[in-house]
Amino acid sequence: MLATPVIIWGAGGHAKVISELIARSSNWCVVGFIDDIAPQRQVRVFAGQTVFPSLESAINETRARHIFVAIGNNDARLRLIENAIERQMTVITVIAPNSWISQSSTIGAGTAIMSGAVINADALIGTGVIVNTNAVVEHDCIVNDGVSIGPGAVLCGNVVVNKGAFIGAGCVVRERITVGQDCIIGCGAALVADVERQSIAYGVPAKVVVQAEPELEAAT
Ligand SMILES: CC(C)(COP(=O)(O)OP(=O)(O)OC[C@H]1O[C@@H](n2cnc3c(N)ncnc32)[C@H](O)[C@@H]1OP(=O)(O)O)[C@@H](O)C(=O)NCCC(=O)NCCS
Repeated sequence: MLATPVIIWGAGGHAKVISELIARSSNWCVVGFIDDIAPQRQVRVFAGQTVFPSLESAINETRARHIFVAIGNNDARLRLIENAIERQMTVITVIAPNSWISQSSTIGAGTAIMSGAVINADALIGTGVIVNTNAVVEHDCIVNDGVSIGPGAVLCGNVVVNKGAFIGAGCVVRERITVGQDCIIGCGAALVADVERQSIAYGVPAKVVVQAEPELEAAT
């Protein structure tokens, strides 16, 4: 079977790791990268690959219909996935061959499950999520769109991580905890209580160091 051409949106450190994972698969063949922001290219480009300045130029030159958005920033990753879908691209999911994915879990489009990661029974993983190297998502967790779970982090059972939150490397999140939308949990934290949206928390046990402004009441 011929490998399907795929474009990678992004050319930084995360894209480098993703391109190596995709290159391992006989199903996919990286035909180019898109970097419309940073002038310095970090990825190693092989024969037949180019770094394009826009999605349009990448599609026109390669004719590829499949894409993976490999951008570390959670907001940007979700926005670019939407752009690619609007342009009728198929957004693929990247799963490292040495990860463990329960058959009862669900993994959304545009999500990357990196080497050594474990996704256990009935976990729900949304769109554009990064489950980084050696991270563990235990049974029944809900990981919403655009979340990033750092290398070696552990979500115990029934944890909910809301949209766009960042769980730092090596964090442990106790079972049944909810992490609010767009929160940042610092590396090495032990999170033993819920955190509200847009909070920054770190430490063992984790303490909230930055809290979101209270939401304004909608005008009636
Ligand atoms: C939490 C975090 C976002 C804070 O970043 P920051 O606002 O730039 O914070 P600073 O580096 O200015 O540190 C501020 C203070 O918090 C402390 N601190 C920062 N991060 C900490 C952490 N994770 N755990 C404990 N203390 C921490 C610093 O020691 C410093 O303390 P001090 O004021 O007593 O000197 C960042 O440190 C972090 O943990 N990022 C996650 C990194 C990661 O996991 N990356 C994975 C990439 S895949």
